[in-house]
Amino acid sequence: MTTVTVLGLGPMGHALAAAFTAADHPTTVWNRTPGKENGLDAAVAATTAEAITASPLVIVCVRDYAVARSILDTDALKGRTLVNLSGGSPEQARAMATWAADHGIDYLDGVIMATTDAIGGPDAALFFSGPADVYETHRSTLAALGENSLHVGDSPGRAAAFDASLQDMLWTSMSGVIHMLALAKAEGIAAADIAAHAKALLGFFPAMIDLLAGQVATANYSGDAGTLHATAATMDHILDAIRAQNLDNGVLAAARAEVQRAIDAGHGEDGFARLAAR
Ligand SMILES: NC(=O)c1ccc[n+]([C@@H]2O[C@H](COP(=O)([O-])OP(=O)(O)OC[C@H]3O[C@@H](n4cnc5c(N)ncnc54)[C@H](OP(=O)(O)O)[C@@H]3O)[C@@H](O)[C@H]2O)c1
Repeated sequence: MTTVTVLGLGPMGHALAAAFTAADHPTTVWNRTPGKENGLDAAVAATTAEAITASPLVIVCVRDYAVARSILDTDALKGRTLVNLSGGSPEQARAMATWAADHGIDYLDGVIMATTDAIGGPDAALFFSGPADVYETHRSTLAALGENSLHVGDSPGRAAAFDASLQDMLWTSMSGVIHMLALAKAEGIAAADIAAHAKALLGFFPAMIDLLAGQVATANYSGDAGTLHATAATMDHILDAIRAQNLDNGVLAAARAEVQRAIDAGHGEDGFARLAAR
């Protein structure tokens, strides 16, 4: 079994190290603050250099890229493979890949689409980008982290770009969910009463994603299923309802402003997909 090093034992780093040990990979760990290795069947290194030289494959999972850079020992890493699972932007991932290449380090950038309790199981998805041959060398070891590990391309920023795009959807959608609960509450509807209807409504989303993705891919912004003029009118009456309850309307107002910009540019008879055009 390949020996693995994990740098960073926050909740996620700890979960990653636990998954490697559960899959019988001899594991060495390091964390800035000692004592975070509780419950792990792993060797504990005193320095990052000591941890790095213990393994051909080094995983770093700390707060962000700046922290990752600050703890990595380039001399120790030379000739090894570094997999960065710290969260960051595509731009940061590309810069990190250049930095790694400059220091003779094989580099994969990864993102984790899972919570800590899912790591190592069937629900954990991880995306990796960077040289395909480097991924192939370590594919079976990285599979210990989740059954849905995927190489999404050679370009180092691609995994982070998937992550940013998907989380863009996630957090605007989560804002919608929480705002729905606030408006319903203000109107005297119990959270439990509206939750079931919300889930039923969201059942249409997969088909909607397919429709919009098809239109964006072909630059066909047909308004046959509903125009931006009609969308604007719907958003306006919902905004009225939100304002009548003195609730924050920032998220929907921003969406409404986007629709208005497209209408002002002459696209009012197009559909919602028009908003993805640049
Ligand atoms: N938690 C999740 O569900 C989840 C999901 C997907 C992705 N991620 C990503 O995984 C990464 C780690 O997340 P996390 O949940 O483990 O918690 P976190 O709070 O983001 O990171 C904690 C880790 O960063 C280290 N750290 C922070 N500042 C440091 C510094 N200046 N120098 C050295 N080490 C430093 C901590 O060391 P100390 O213990 O010494 O403070 C600890 O090991 C993040 O980038 C996050 O975006 C997390």
